[in-house]
Amino acid sequence: MIIRQIAKTILLSTIILLSASYSNKATAQEGKTIFNTYCAACHKMDKDLTGPALMGVEERWGNDREKLVAWVKNSANLIAAGDKHATDIFNKWNKLPMAPFETVLKDAEINAVLDYIKDWKPEVPIVDNNANQTSSDKNSLLLGIITLALALAALILLFVKRSLKKLSNEALDVTPVKAIPVWKNKSYIALAAILLFVVGGYFTTTSAIELGRNKGYEPIQPIFYSHKVHAGVNQINCLYCHGGAEKGKHANIPSVNVCMNCHKSITEYSGEQLYNIDGEKVDGTAEIKKLHEYAGFDINNANAWNPNDAKSIEWVQIHSLPDHVYFNHSQHVVVGKVECQTCHGEINKMDEVKQFTDLSMGWCVNCHRETKVQFKENGFYSIYEKYHNELKNGKLDSTKGITVEKIGGTECQKCHY
Ligand code: HEC
Ligand code: HEC
Ligand code: HEC
Ligand code: HEC
Ligand code: HEC
Ligand code: HEC
Repeated sequence: MIIRQIAKTILLSTIILLSASYSNKATAQEGKTIFNTYCAACHKMDKDLTGPALMGVEERWGNDREKLVAWVKNSANLIAAGDKHATDIFNKWNKLPMAPFETVLKDAEINAVLDYIKDWKPEVPIVDNNANQTSSDKNSLLLGIITLALALAALILLFVKRSLKKLSNEALDVTPVKAIPVWKNKSYIALAAILLFVVGGYFTTTSAIELGRNKGYEPIQPIFYSHKVHAGVNQINCLYCHGGAEKGKHANIPSVNVCMNCHKSITEYSGEQLYNIDGEKVDGTAEIKKLHEYAGFDINNANAWNPNDAKSIEWVQIHSLPDHVYFNHSQHVVVGKVECQTCHGEINKMDEVKQFTDLSMGWCVNCHRETKVQFKENGFYSIYEKYHNELKNGKLDSTKGITVEKIGGTECQKCHY
């Protein structure tokens, strides 16, 4: 009876604990989403942008949540009512009014975003090779802790049971059969050994498989070259610099002289403020100066520039497949008509490139299983007449299409030397 009671209590408190932490997380997540959607255009937490940095704003407003909510709903009302803090901040920001949100956001949503601002802390940047490990490691750590806690609970219950039995035996005056202690009991030992084997094996294999994988890798480059500025804001085609992707195996990194096509005349940066991954300001003009140094280019004497003086920039390579794998860009970009962004993520929105996928074999093979071959107006596929005819006379289900797998895209020798 008592054992059941204890078990019930433990179970119940676990559930309550878990659900409490879950619901907390949900609103924090909501607040973050709202912030990114409605506020991030003008506010950063730790830096002034169009509007002031918001870290610690709650304290600056004397922890008056009601007033803060009123501000976000419509700051003009507070200013009109003569609120001192509101007027001060309005004047300090050159009377630039903040957009009202009363029709856009519900009170609960404003509170969620204010909670998010209140709880926000600067992130500790991760720069090393193993950037990808954090989230999966955190998960396995959590799992480990939960497993340990459950094991402990089981052990406690076991001892409670034993002592209760002893008590009841004493009360009933039964002389108990001498029990075998836990650590000598063969079935317990066997159970522990199996558990150890399974858990240990799991961790060993997962970490072995992930060796050498660098998802999320974002090294510091010799020049802060922003893809967002070039391929995003200024809409320069990827192939202008990575033309190799259309022609052959490698996409290639452009030489200094390709950069100088534009940067002989673009010598200053006047776009939006840039930040590196540590959140520090980057001076774009100074970065262009670095480029000029590599190129051996002197702004004051531009006509005398000789492209042969250029030294190459030692960019840090980010993507790298093992030597035993064959990967060809043009096969994917031209024949397969796969977008760069499908494999590399939204590079045109990243300042510094980071590795978007894990480049694992599973990633390649899964895409080959799912992606349909683009037969239409694709001269490369005349050899697959057979499929065309089967599609026509209905032998093949045209709604399913023909995947890369069907034309041999999962055969080992296609990807391995
Ligand atoms: C269009 C730009 C813009 C957007 C979008 C915007 N703000 Fe503002 N915000 C400002 C400006 C500018 C100020 C400075 C006060 C002023 O000039 O009215 C400000 C001030 C504030 C302040 C007071 C800061 C202080 O230091 O006391 C808070 C709080 C605030 N904003 C919250 C938000 C929240 C929350 C959102 C999103 C729901 C948001 N803002 C969206 C421009 C904006
Ligand atoms: C003006 C030239 C330029 C344009 C345009 C450009 N890139 Fe790049 N790209 C570079 C340079 C320089 C590097 C090497 C430095 C770095 O990694 O940031 C690079 C690196 C990369 C890398 C990582 C290479 C590695 O080391 O593994 C990828 C992936 C990439 N670019 C994809 C793209 C895509 C996709 C686009 C179009 C959306 C694009 N690039 C547009 C110049 C350019
Ligand atoms: C097709 C023209 C073009 C080419 C090629 C080009 N750039 Fe740029 N670059 C620009 C433009 C446009 C800007 C933005 C200027 C502004 O906004 O004031 C810019 C800005 C920059 C900046 C300052 C912003 C930032 O990204 O940090 C740097 C540094 C830079 N370029 C480096 C390079 C390098 C290195 C290469 C060669 C890999 C290159 N650029 C190739 C057009 C080009
Ligand atoms: C099917 C997936 C896929 C597509 C589509 C793709 N890439 Fe790649 N990209 C890769 C892989 C995988 C690597 C690593 C290759 C290696 O290490 O040999 C890579 C490497 C690169 C590199 C590093 C230098 C190199 O050639 O190894 C650049 C730059 C690059 N890609 C740019 C592009 C651009 C630009 C496009 C679009 C025109 C593109 N990629 C389309 C998968 C893809
Ligand atoms: C986003 C989807 C996608 C990913 C990811 C992808 N591929 Fe492909 N792959 C394709 C498509 C589409 C084709 C069809 C082009 C063709 O028929 O040649 C293809 C074709 C190929 C072929 C030629 C197959 C044949 O039968 O001729 C090879 C080899 C190949 N991929 C290797 C790789 C490797 C290695 C990787 C991982 C590093 C990879 N692919 C990742 C979509 C993908
Ligand atoms: C679509 C491309 C593709 C095909 C098809 C393919 N592989 Fe791979 N394989 C890869 C890539 C990419 C890697 C590198 C994975 C990594 O570094 O994690 C790899 C790695 C491996 C490894 C090294 C172990 C590892 O995880 O690094 C072995 C062994 C292997 N493949 C065997 C095979 C066999 C056997 C087949 C046929 C059944 C096959 N592969 C088919 C792309 C492919």
